[in-house]
Amino acid sequence: MARMAREYARAPYSNFKVGAAVECADGRTFTGCNIENSSYGATLCAEQVALAKAVSEGALDFVRIAVIADADRPIPPCGACRQVIFELCGREMEVVMAKLDGQFEIRKARELLPAPFDQTFL
Ligand code: THU
Repeated sequence: MARMAREYARAPYSNFKVGAAVECADGRTFTGCNIENSSYGATLCAEQVALAKAVSEGALDFVRIAVIADADRPIPPCGACRQVIFELCGREMEVVMAKLDGQFEIRKARELLPAPFDQTFL
């Protein structure tokens, strides 16, 4: 599903299309793609689009999230996406990082963000 969502990516500036899919405990899956903007900072990452769609549809528990791009190695979420995944999905969340040929790696959110800023500070 992440691979299919990637087809919808709007990436005219980087030409780097990303797809994501987040699987929920209730069985639903939400997809996302990156959506770039000429004001670059307004660009949305694929993972955050998928998670925003899920949360805004009432999804609470997440099982795993996949992210895919056309790269020479499995694409890891950017730093901001790691923070958002950690926040919404928790430290044990599985992050599946894939490349187009199907090769993938799986890491936990806590491995990708080992020293998190989280709600315990607030
Ligand atoms: N991108 C994502 O969608 N997710 C990531 O985790 C890494 C970066 C997008 C943002 C931008 O549109 C393009 O990839 C190049 O940085």
